[in-house]
Amino acid sequence: MCGIIACIGSDDAVGELLTGLENLEYRGYDSAGIAVQNGHGIAVRKKAGKISELKGAIAADVPDGSVGIGHTRWSTHGPPTDENAHPHTSQSEGVAVVHNGIIENYEVVRSRLMEEGYVFTSETDTEVIPHLIDHYMDQGDDVETAFERAIDDLDGSYAVALMVDGTDTVYAARQDSPLVVGVDDSGPETRYYLASDVPAFLEFTDRVMYLEDGDVARVTTDGIDVHDADGPVQRPIETVEWNAEETGKGQYEHYMLKEIHTQPEALRGTLSGRIEDGDVTLEEFPEGTFEGIEQVHLVACGTSFHAAKCGARQLVRAGIPASTFRASEYHDLQPVDERTLVVAVTQSGETADTLSALRRAEEAGASTVALTNVVGSTVSREADDTLYIRAGPEIGVAATKTFTSQVAALTLLTHRLAADLERGTVREDAAEFLAELEALPDRIEDLLGRTRASDVSESNMGRDAYFFIGRDFEYPVALEGALKFKEITYEHAEGFASGELKHGPLALVTPDATIFALLTGDRGEETRKNAEEARTRGARVIAVAPEGMDVGEMADDVLRVPDTHPDLAGLLANVQLQLVSYHTAYGLGREIDKPRNLAKSVTVE
Ligand code: G6P
Repeated sequence: MCGIIACIGSDDAVGELLTGLENLEYRGYDSAGIAVQNGHGIAVRKKAGKISELKGAIAADVPDGSVGIGHTRWSTHGPPTDENAHPHTSQSEGVAVVHNGIIENYEVVRSRLMEEGYVFTSETDTEVIPHLIDHYMDQGDDVETAFERAIDDLDGSYAVALMVDGTDTVYAARQDSPLVVGVDDSGPETRYYLASDVPAFLEFTDRVMYLEDGDVARVTTDGIDVHDADGPVQRPIETVEWNAEETGKGQYEHYMLKEIHTQPEALRGTLSGRIEDGDVTLEEFPEGTFEGIEQVHLVACGTSFHAAKCGARQLVRAGIPASTFRASEYHDLQPVDERTLVVAVTQSGETADTLSALRRAEEAGASTVALTNVVGSTVSREADDTLYIRAGPEIGVAATKTFTSQVAALTLLTHRLAADLERGTVREDAAEFLAELEALPDRIEDLLGRTRASDVSESNMGRDAYFFIGRDFEYPVALEGALKFKEITYEHAEGFASGELKHGPLALVTPDATIFALLTGDRGEETRKNAEEARTRGARVIAVAPEGMDVGEMADDVLRVPDTHPDLAGLLANVQLQLVSYHTAYGLGREIDKPRNLAKSVTVE
């Protein structure tokens, strides 16, 4: 959802900005642009399309400079054109701005400025910012005051970086959009970075300062000053554990393939130190954390919503009333009070819909837990407590390893709540179940070593529609299988509860449809019957079945899942489906890591 970057004190601002933008490209790839100081004014280069287009456009004439800002765009206001690409400059060209977020009152501000004679060259909401700064500077303000007054005029969400002609200063501000500072103090001169996310500058430094909502920062080669509405504030500098190697593609052609294949490692990270002597220890929740909780709401979007559905099912099984809500629909649906625990499930920790659901819950007095992958993300700072899934950075827009780790983390949370809450019951087979959970990374490795997903994908190219069906834990997995498939192949795919097939979707089933039937788990046999009903209508059926199950005549092909506990088998089935989506998209020549119209982190509602 747009990525911004700035560097201050660099030997090669353009090189660092382009590297940073490539690292942020998962946030949007409609256009890209940079602006650098080179002693002869601000040099702006911007271009519709991916960062590679921008690189190509500037190759013959690379501006040099030591201070710069950059942007990669996911369009909200105005189509992806060169004119709408950031940075946007003021009329005097004295300042350049990059912005992530949405300025809700931009139309009012824009009309006001147009009446005063300001000429707009783009259709973006962002362009009001440089003109507002000009407007206040014309009234005699210095640039810092003008920046702050401009920011005060804005309603909505923003992470903004501003560069001023003739200085080495970058100003920045954040409100409801992420912004972090990188500090590279390893050399004789300290260098600074500003970005929407840490991986943007991880190649240069792992020392990070997280800015808070309402913060305004002034960054120069001499240091960084931060203040909020009450005056100067100190934000600590932390060292992050991720490293640049983790954020690279390694031996894989795509991030998605890498992230599918590194699921065992990611899952080990999620579970490490959290299961001891047949019990779950979650040190992030001291004794008494969940006192008085009577029900759980899980709020999430996209893939995280499907993980949340797996979590809710486990909680209900443990005797704890639990419901899942699409975060964008979490409006007055259920009574929420201090006896409700609201779990915000979000890989990035920055999804606007999820954050606004969390804030609504907090206003209603609920206790809140963030379940996220990103340390220091907004959700982790706003929720009462955080359970990190520790899956390592995920770059592919289509979420894979984080789904697996989210479900595993929710499994641990369920165990803890079952033990802590009055109405909870710890499952009778807890020891055996947790041992299987710990063995799951090995099972995934086994599956990855002998999957036939590539062959199955090849023989199912060019079908009219792809359906995914399952019951119980396999129902959210069917939804996730279909979501992944449509996200990266652009083919028509839907997930259904297998029992629902006969209540409508069967009308869509023709000999040109393929049905992926999830036969794992306790209710696989029932799904098998539903799949047979579809096959009778001519559909091609691909069974995703446990090792020992004889699928006989009911399936045209089969993808096998190593034996495990029935409540965990859906996670293994999901890995097969991830691979099917990947290989189908590959066969179709799709942009796997950057599917059309999507972004990994959606910071607008
Ligand atoms: C976007 C991404 C999805 C993701 C969803 C929720 O739509 O394209 O892959 O599942 O956001 O993201 P979150 O970071 O909250 O898990």
